[in-house]
Amino acid sequence: MDNRAIGVFDSGLGGLTAVQALRRLLPDEDVVYFGDTGRVPYGTRSAETILRYALQDLRFLMAHSLKCVVVACGTVSSVALPQLQQAVQAPVLGVIDSTVRAAAAATRNGRVGVIGTNATIRSETFQRGLLAINPELLVPARACPLLVPLVEDGRFAPGATVTELLVQEYVAPLLAQDIDTLILGCTHYPLLTDIFRAACGPQVALIDPGHETVRDLRALLQETGGLREAGTPGTERYYVSDSAQNFLQHAGMFLGGPVQGEATRVDIENY
Ligand code: DGL
Repeated sequence: MDNRAIGVFDSGLGGLTAVQALRRLLPDEDVVYFGDTGRVPYGTRSAETILRYALQDLRFLMAHSLKCVVVACGTVSSVALPQLQQAVQAPVLGVIDSTVRAAAAATRNGRVGVIGTNATIRSETFQRGLLAINPELLVPARACPLLVPLVEDGRFAPGATVTELLVQEYVAPLLAQDIDTLILGCTHYPLLTDIFRAACGPQVALIDPGHETVRDLRALLQETGGLREAGTPGTERYYVSDSAQNFLQHAGMFLGGPVQGEATRVDIENY
């Protein structure tokens, strides 16, 4: 039994799709979330800047009593995970390993598409992870830099014409390579699942990194006796580096339900 909270962070709101999975799969766990809403997006920045930001995010979270930290950001997981794991004693989980395992298991024809931010695709971390599991896989990849701003702007439901057109354009070269599995390699993208489903068709499996990571985390906590004592529902605390008011206005869409718990602004440059 371990009653300490699970820390989760992202460059902004995208990591809330992992919190949504935590609510579903580990409802008894306490969660402390940090979203770097003042500095989002990370995906257009250099690896050095992403590492510097991510270390600050991690240091802030570690000021709480945590049993582990989930890096609920494809970009940070791709670019900076080993350095984060070395920086603290607590286990730090990225989204890459669980996601590539799920994708490699899902594909039938060995063609797995990968999409993500510029930094994620440039790092080739997802692609290397897939090929480490099965060197025979074909792993076409494409950066989709315009999707995060559209999602943050609330344009993710079917009928958001600009988003629909962009998604069609982004996935077209991957579909032309006959992929049957697509890694939504940024935690913002699962909000676009309906639009991706329409663009890719029902035959393409869509892999959600937050969901896959939380599923593995649940198995890990079960195996190691690390679950929180059952009986009372878990609590949630939110921290952001920009307006808490703005966060509260938008977070519900990412969580798939109302924010439970307080949201507080922090000065992340102090960490
Ligand atoms: N949610 C982040 C990810 O998973 C991307 C957003 C950003 O560019 O900051 O990659």
